[in-house]
Amino acid sequence: MCIRSSSGDWGVFVQTLIISCFIALIQFTSASLLDKLQNNYLVSDFHELIRTDPVANSTLQLRSCTLFVPTNAAVRKYNGTILVSYHMATVPMTVRQLTKTIPSDFEGNPLLYITRNRKGEVYVNNAWINQTESTEIVTQENKRQVMHVINDVLVPLTLLPTARTQVTNPNAWEFLQQSDLFDVQENRLRTYRSQVTLMRKESLYQSPGGHTFFIPVDEGFKQTTRSSLVDRKVIDGHVILNSVLFSAAQSTEDTHTTAAFEDNIKVTVNFYYDNDKKLYVKSNTLVGDSKHSTGVVLAQVLKANIPVSNGVVHLIHRPLMIVDTTVKQFLEKNFGCNSFQSLVDNKNGALRRFYEVIMEIGGEVLDDINSLGDVTILAPSNEAWNASNIENIIGNREKMRDIVNMHIIKGRVDVEKIKQSNENMIGQFPTIHSSTFLYFNVNGDDTNEVVTVEGGGVNATIIVPDIAQTNGFVHIIDRVLGVPYTTVLGKLETDPMLSDTYRMGQFSSFNDQLNNTQRRFTYFVPRDRAWQKTQYDYPSVYKKLFMKDFAYHSRCIMERHLLIADDIYTMKTLAEMTKKQNDSIILPTFRDSLKIKVEEEVENLHDDDSTSWTGYVILWNYKRIRVFRPDVECTNGIIHVIDYPMLEKKDIVVSGGSYQLHSNFCIVFANFIILAIAKNLF
Ligand SMILES: *[C@@H]1O[C@H](CO)[C@@H](O)[C@H](O)[C@H]1NC(C)=O
Ligand SMILES: *[C@@H]1O[C@H](CO)[C@@H](O)[C@H](O)[C@H]1NC(C)=O
Ligand SMILES: *[C@@H]1O[C@H](CO)[C@@H](O)[C@H](O)[C@H]1NC(C)=O
Ligand SMILES: *[C@@H]1O[C@H](CO)[C@@H](O)[C@H](O)[C@H]1NC(C)=O
Ligand SMILES: *[C@@H]1O[C@H](CO)[C@@H](O)[C@H](O)[C@H]1NC(C)=O
Ligand SMILES: *[C@@H]1O[C@H](CO)[C@@H](O)[C@H](O)[C@H]1NC(C)=O
Ligand SMILES: *[C@@H]1O[C@H](CO)[C@@H](O)[C@H](O)[C@H]1NC(C)=O
Repeated sequence: MCIRSSSGDWGVFVQTLIISCFIALIQFTSASLLDKLQNNYLVSDFHELIRTDPVANSTLQLRSCTLFVPTNAAVRKYNGTILVSYHMATVPMTVRQLTKTIPSDFEGNPLLYITRNRKGEVYVNNAWINQTESTEIVTQENKRQVMHVINDVLVPLTLLPTARTQVTNPNAWEFLQQSDLFDVQENRLRTYRSQVTLMRKESLYQSPGGHTFFIPVDEGFKQTTRSSLVDRKVIDGHVILNSVLFSAAQSTEDTHTTAAFEDNIKVTVNFYYDNDKKLYVKSNTLVGDSKHSTGVVLAQVLKANIPVSNGVVHLIHRPLMIVDTTVKQFLEKNFGCNSFQSLVDNKNGALRRFYEVIMEIGGEVLDDINSLGDVTILAPSNEAWNASNIENIIGNREKMRDIVNMHIIKGRVDVEKIKQSNENMIGQFPTIHSSTFLYFNVNGDDTNEVVTVEGGGVNATIIVPDIAQTNGFVHIIDRVLGVPYTTVLGKLETDPMLSDTYRMGQFSSFNDQLNNTQRRFTYFVPRDRAWQKTQYDYPSVYKKLFMKDFAYHSRCIMERHLLIADDIYTMKTLAEMTKKQNDSIILPTFRDSLKIKVEEEVENLHDDDSTSWTGYVILWNYKRIRVFRPDVECTNGIIHVIDYPMLEKKDIVVSGGSYQLHSNFCIVFANFIILAIAKNLF
């Protein structure tokens, strides 16, 4: 503002400074915040409310205050009665000065809660403060007034017009006790209330200070035996002490420790939004006991952010922590038919589309799920079914059924089990769709763990893991498995297990063709570990494979692995062909052809699993090569991930001190094939 040009201009500088400050002072002193509001067209609706409210109007003329001003957008979105005095507080506070709780001017002076989150955002109750808009003025009467523009209307807890008793500023227990008097839509809280009384846990809901309370509504107790499962520990699991969590101010990544967190039982809580922006809360019982199953319970939030004198209350559609439905019931009741009709439009369930697909293909899948005993479901989110590549097959019942089956694992597979089986290799589990396995991978650290799952060429991320059921788990994933969405090239590019083959194909320009959607490729792709193995068998070859100088050699080797035909070859097809031929089969490759046998092999992957499953082995050139991941489907072909490359020592040999391609490797190979064909024909 003031620039001191030289030391000689000191007097001028001081003069400028005084004038500037005088101008600033004039700007600072204003009739009242009303003028400020009047000049801000983005908040004209609220200005109108204040101007016509005699108390608010006179407050702004005469007193110091803090005023929270919802934008017009917020006012128009909210269709209830806006209570102006709940947006005002007597003590003027700038953003920096805002204390954790502020008594509002509303009747009974209920508290407003301030949250500062890690991103540096500041919230009052559930409304975000646009800090760039915060203004402080001093009125002509020398009163400080501060205004904060917020993106949501502040809603206090109010009595119903029909309420006969007067209750001001209730705490969570008083609210729960007399919930019928309050305006909480048609939610009834009697079952939970009587259970809290029975367990003598009133004091928890009465604790002074600021806490977060989850209260399940009566509809969540339709399962008749459920209320008896609400014991003292479960009630503790519904309370987060010393944190007032308004939903908008929370990051879904933040995990909150509940009052049920001690040696024998550890329960945490997160908020979660589905793709329709519906708010859920999920409890995760990390350590449980005979009465409290470990795992996640997901409850939709029916009415969020009810402020009480000792924190905030959220009404939820079912109790947390309680695991008392089977996987089938979970799919049916919570997300399919019946239940909470009056409260939750069941068209909104987080797995509604998955359930619809199951019903479209006849619904027997539900019986299959039930007959499996222990079962784990990877359930695609509603949005996952919207992907364009799914639309093409949505009417194809048989294909759809195959796809749904790829999402079902016999047995209980939670993230803990995935991690255990993940130590030495990618966790691998058979599905009830013959020959399809799911491959799990855990990435990231403990606080930000991401579990991915691959099935039929699709790599999906688990967005809600470990939803516990009496007979297994449901994991919500972000993609439908088994419906490919990338080309062979796209798959190589993104799959961390195939990065060596991708790299080799890049520098030898072999990869370019693999993005061609007019072709149908069958590609045997050695995984990274496969190439590493050759390091011991053929150290000199291995070194050269990844050198640009030897691109031609690498290319020749890769050509051997790539079949180009009118259709793709699944491993099953190849095994059947071998059986029929009772000998090696000859397959068309990029340049020549490939002579292999494919055999099925029965294996036991998991010690604890009595079920055996079938794997495939390729016999090539006296080598037995295991197929690590068969049938990774892509939009323009199929990938079989193999455990060893089809590689020989003579592929790259030393001659006269320099490496070169074996004099006529390709020709020798071709001759070999011709002989093989000849043998077969005659
Ligand atoms: C608001 O206060 C001003 C100044 O005291 C007064 O002129 C005006 O009439 C008041 N408006 C209402 C609606 O009371
Ligand atoms: C507010 O809107 C909801 C739906 O958007 C409607 O059901 C309700 O009746 C409205 N309430 C008022 C007071 O207009
Ligand atoms: C916050 O206020 C500034 C200044 O008026 C405005 O430009 C910006 O759009 C506001 N931000 C949001 C998210 O509304
Ligand atoms: C899915 O698509 C339908 C219509 O195409 C749309 O109405 C719906 O909002 C979409 N759902 C999600 C979760 O994107
Ligand atoms: C799926 O993709 C992620 C991210 O690229 C990767 O870390 C993970 O290993 C992949 N999963 C499988 C089974 O390949
Ligand atoms: C492969 O093709 C797709 C669409 O045809 C394109 O988006 C993508 O960039 C291509 N990838 C490469 C590596 O060329
Ligand atoms: C398959 O070949 C083996 C030896 O080559 C022979 O013993 C066997 O009888 C053949 N089986 C059939 C079904 O032709």
